[in-house]
Amino acid sequence: MITIDGLSVSFGAVQALRGVSMSAETGKITAVLGANGAGKTTLLRTISGLKEPATGSIRMDDRSLIHERPENIARMGVGHVPEGRGVIGEFTVEENLRLGAMMAKVPLQAGLDEQYEQFPVLGERRKQHAAKLSGGERQMLAMARAMIAKPSVLLLDEPSLGLAPLVTAQLMHTIHDLCGSNNLTVILVEQNASSALRIADHAVVLHLGRVVANDVAANVAANEDLRQYYLGMVE
Ligand SMILES: Nc1ncnc2c1ncn2[C@@H]1O[C@H](COP(=O)(O)OP(=O)(O)O)[C@@H](O)[C@H]1O
Ligand SMILES: [Mg+2]
Repeated sequence: MITIDGLSVSFGAVQALRGVSMSAETGKITAVLGANGAGKTTLLRTISGLKEPATGSIRMDDRSLIHERPENIARMGVGHVPEGRGVIGEFTVEENLRLGAMMAKVPLQAGLDEQYEQFPVLGERRKQHAAKLSGGERQMLAMARAMIAKPSVLLLDEPSLGLAPLVTAQLMHTIHDLCGSNNLTVILVEQNASSALRIADHAVVLHLGRVVANDVAANVAANEDLRQYYLGMVE
């Protein structure tokens, strides 16, 4: 479980997060929603140790993640799939997965077998360059590369970006499966609120670095004001 309390993060004069408090439960999907510039990416990068907060705490179960180095946070079980996916196009599918396994120092073959079972399409394309994959397949590769390290927490930054609606729906289904079958703590950052809310258990809405809603996903999805003013879900 991840617990965040009073988290503030600045880039010079820009305050990207202003006293953010939220939590993400084990085996559940917590969606973090909000417009471009709301602070979603900054939140994930701060959890991963890539950005130092000004104030506040981040705990994973009973351990503080503040001031830990990113590689330690990864080793503690936090997997991060960055905005833009971060797969290496010139490498094959398998080479990308090997890289994930190497960084996590996990047994390679067992890890590959497991990921090919979870994502059969990656097994079929293991020899293809990642650049040749479709957007949806590339997102699956990015998730498999994170999952090969056997994380207990998975941070996903805008996985649906640039994907067609049908592909997005399939991807959300896969994320839901992944969370359930691995008892993962998933933090799902999305601008695409309607897709994320379909699979999320809980939802946090950010607006200009502040939490404006923090509730079970069904309540956020049913709230007209949130839909209209913060989530861009205009009927
Ligand atoms: N590296 C950076 N340098 C300066 N400002 C940044 C940087 N990264 C993000 N910001 C600012 O922080 C705010 C939140 O950005 P971000 O976390 O990327 O939001 P989101 O992911 O919700 O679109 C924005 O105002 C953005 O311009
Ligand atoms: Mg972002």
